[in-house]
Amino acid sequence: MAEYVVEFGKAGGGAEADGRLDAPAFHRNHQAIRTVLQQFLAGKSGDAVEAGSGTGQHVVDLARHLPDITWWPSDLNEQHLKSIDAWRACSKLANIRPPLRIDLSNPAWWPEIGSKPGPEELLAVFCANVIHIAPWRIAEGLVAGAGRYLGSDGLLFLYGPFKRGGRHTAPSNEAFDLSLRDGNDEWGVRDAEAVEELAVRAGLSLVEVAEMPANNLTLVFGRARTARATMSA
Ligand SMILES: C[S@@+](CC[C@H](N)C(=O)[O-])C[C@H]1O[C@@H](n2cnc3c(N)ncnc32)[C@H](O)[C@@H]1O
Repeated sequence: MAEYVVEFGKAGGGAEADGRLDAPAFHRNHQAIRTVLQQFLAGKSGDAVEAGSGTGQHVVDLARHLPDITWWPSDLNEQHLKSIDAWRACSKLANIRPPLRIDLSNPAWWPEIGSKPGPEELLAVFCANVIHIAPWRIAEGLVAGAGRYLGSDGLLFLYGPFKRGGRHTAPSNEAFDLSLRDGNDEWGVRDAEAVEELAVRAGLSLVEVAEMPANNLTLVFGRARTARATMSA
């Protein structure tokens, strides 16, 4: 079993009777995250996977504001899968599919893709706050799978804290990194350049580095031919 944050989100309002969890971070970061995804995805249609959806609050917000996209939330933790499905039911949005049980440590994390009613390929993969709270092999699997499943115009969005050029971008990120490593020596704030290397190996290139509130970044990767930026630029 892969490692995960057990009952992530319970520190918020606690679990509702139907299993909905509330993550305090969602209330702080969802608008900024949505704004970045809208810049790239507004007006587009297709299928998008959210990897490591946690409570399921982001996928509801994204599905509401990007209604032409079919959203496939996913996670591995049973409580989270329950919460995602409860938020989905509560939203009554037709463009959210039931959560997929996906283990991101497997580079072929959606082996059933292509079998109906699933899509043949993906327009987007979105993943927030996962790869620093998991062993490095989760980042490897996530990015390799994105390279495998994204279509020719597909995009990978990775939100979270990152080091740049091997250095923390803020003292708060450094302290967070230390606390993560204290709890689990396989966790930790990742180097943006190391993630970019994974993406290049998966046939993707950096399109944008969006600066986010609270010293976070959203890294956007696309197929090599659509790339506009490099980390060193
Ligand atoms: C800190 S939470 C972030 C949740 C959500 N993305 C957000 O930002 O609100 C990390 C999530 O990654 C999931 N996760 C950890 N390891 C995983 C794995 N190997 N495969 C799939 N999901 C995983 C956890 O269950 C948890 O829901």
